[in-house]
Amino acid sequence: MTGQIFSVSASVSESGTLLAVIVCRGRGRPAWESYDLTMRMIFPSTGLELDDLGIAERYAYPRDRWLRANFVTSPDGAAYVDGRSKGLSSDGDMRVFGVLRALADVVLVGARTARIEEYKPARRRADLASLRAGRPATATIALASRTLDLDLSGPLFTDTPPDARTIVITSASSPADSRAATAKVADVIVAGEENVDLAVALEALAARGLGRVLCEGGPHLLGQVAADGLLDELSLTLGPTLAGPGASRIIAGPAFAARPMTLAQVLAEDGSLFCRYLVNSPE
Ligand SMILES: NC(=O)c1ccc[n+]([C@@H]2O[C@H](COP(=O)([O-])OP(=O)(O)OC[C@H]3O[C@@H](n4cnc5c(N)ncnc54)[C@H](OP(=O)(O)O)[C@@H]3O)[C@@H](O)[C@H]2O)c1
Repeated sequence: MTGQIFSVSASVSESGTLLAVIVCRGRGRPAWESYDLTMRMIFPSTGLELDDLGIAERYAYPRDRWLRANFVTSPDGAAYVDGRSKGLSSDGDMRVFGVLRALADVVLVGARTARIEEYKPARRRADLASLRAGRPATATIALASRTLDLDLSGPLFTDTPPDARTIVITSASSPADSRAATAKVADVIVAGEENVDLAVALEALAARGLGRVLCEGGPHLLGQVAADGLLDELSLTLGPTLAGPGASRIIAGPAFAARPMTLAQVLAEDGSLFCRYLVNSPE
């Protein structure tokens, strides 16, 4: 279903700030709350319509070693509503989410997000099979956990294809018996002594041919990734929900110095904006 765009104006100031005004009407909605229901680029060029393979082209990994984080937030800065990200998401957000998974070698996720969001193995997508040529049909899930307090009978450990077995990244301080039990149902990477050393973990993933990383959170894991200087790109969905106080922002944990990012691209669909911010140069 395609809505009607009344007007689109988007520009980016010299400092990289997005200035966008989109006045759109989705079919069947009153004008004041209507959105365009087609995924479109609004920056750097305006109006290009994108199907899922078109979205994939816009998000192609620039290098074989690259860490992209993908998050959704509300305009008032919340990372979840009622404890989960679903309340901020949308069909468009799930489309981008699925395409980014199809592009990635590995999905890096914190144990708490995996528990709360009830993580399962990545879904095989026949329509995106061309993106997986020469690789397993689905991205591997890599779960970071120091405590190894994991449900080893869950689908992340029982329903994975042999070529995309779940990887558990932990530190040497995790309980040895839990590590042994985890190793029966997953590949275990020990990175760091007390806490998980994410730089060491990324090296170990790359050594397995998993260099194109998609970090899906949550805020504590992203906070550590960013604090350690490992974030190359932030893919951020801004969904039209006023979440109210209480929720974490998309980054939590230890403080680090603010750093600039470059706004590389903005897509829009049905009232959500999909922004690609580069922390590091893609060259
Ligand atoms: N808005 C979004 O896009 C988005 C995305 C993802 C999640 N979320 C939401 O965020 C919430 C969960 O996020 P969270 O921040 O509480 O937890 P999280 O970042 O998902 O997970 C934190 C856990 O990861 C493990 N971990 C291992 N090494 C780590 C390291 N070096 N740094 C940080 N964590 C490490 C630890 O697990 P152990 O305790 O097992 O040792 C730690 O407790 C949920 O409400 C979820 O719905 C939102």
